Amino acid sequence: MPGFALKRLLQLNFITFAPQSQAPCLTNSFKHFMSLKDKINLQQLPKHIAIIMDGNGRWAKEKGEDRLFGHWNGVESVRDVVEGAAELGVQYLTLYAFSTENWDRPAYEVSGLMELLVETIRKEVPTLNKNNIKLHVIGDMGMLPELARKELDEAIGETSSNSGLNLIMALSYSSRWEINNAVKKIAEAVKKNKLQPEEIGANTLQQYLCTSNYPDPELMIRTSGEFRISNFLLYQLAYTELYFTNTLWPDFRKENLYEAILDYQGRERRFGKTSEQLK
Ligand code: FPP
Repeated sequence: MPGFALKRLLQLNFITFAPQSQAPCLTNSFKHFMSLKDKINLQQLPKHIAIIMDGNGRWAKEKGEDRLFGHWNGVESVRDVVEGAAELGVQYLTLYAFSTENWDRPAYEVSGLMELLVETIRKEVPTLNKNNIKLHVIGDMGMLPELARKELDEAIGETSSNSGLNLIMALSYSSRWEINNAVKKIAEAVKKNKLQPEEIGANTLQQYLCTSNYPDPELMIRTSGEFRISNFLLYQLAYTELYFTNTLWPDFRKENLYEAILDYQGRERRFGKTSEQLK
């Protein structure tokens, strides 16, 4: 098959390419042949993937639409990527949905995002349960509108006995806020004599972070061509493999996730050691 034809085929949505009802075998064989999913080594799957979902505003602007249109379409990507991660067997997926700094955006955008959050959570809980996904939230929940907090609390409760993918939404979250908070809690523990300064060791701070119950991410993806980690999991990302893509978040799909995982699987993770030591 000529290279350009293969490239074009890869850009096409498999379902629209050949409807199942007309050519099920053809569709399935192409799906099988073309998906990057088949190339992933499931034994070396990152346990925890974190994503900065960026580019919604630019995606909308390119289409002459309002920024909120980008966020609404970003929810489709969230759905697809969560499903893709769950299907693969990824254990933790953290999505940066709203940063502390996002509160400074125009009021209509902030309230639009909060409405979208409430509506999405309300609508998606049955799907989370169907797919055995457990919802968690990290961030300054006290900053969220009461209705959003209520929906989140209910959704967390309703999905709490699921044992598949742990979906962690970072909402009103920033790493500096989290570290500041952790240091305050440590100081209080010392003040109350529950912790001695000499007991503060290499793992103490980690135990006071919002992420104390989760392993550090092994792969962090940021979309939209920005090469920053901003204020996201600054402590936790020390040895995380970083993957940047130009794809804007509303265009990001499972296939893009597979691409990032394959890139990760091609890397050598040395954790400060030499290549020879790893062998
Ligand atoms: C960054 O794009 C994205 C956000 C600030 C919000 C992300 C939210 C979603 C993907 C929707 C799902 C989330 C909820 C709360 C249900 P940007 O607006 O910074 O894009 P730009 O850099 O192009 O302006």
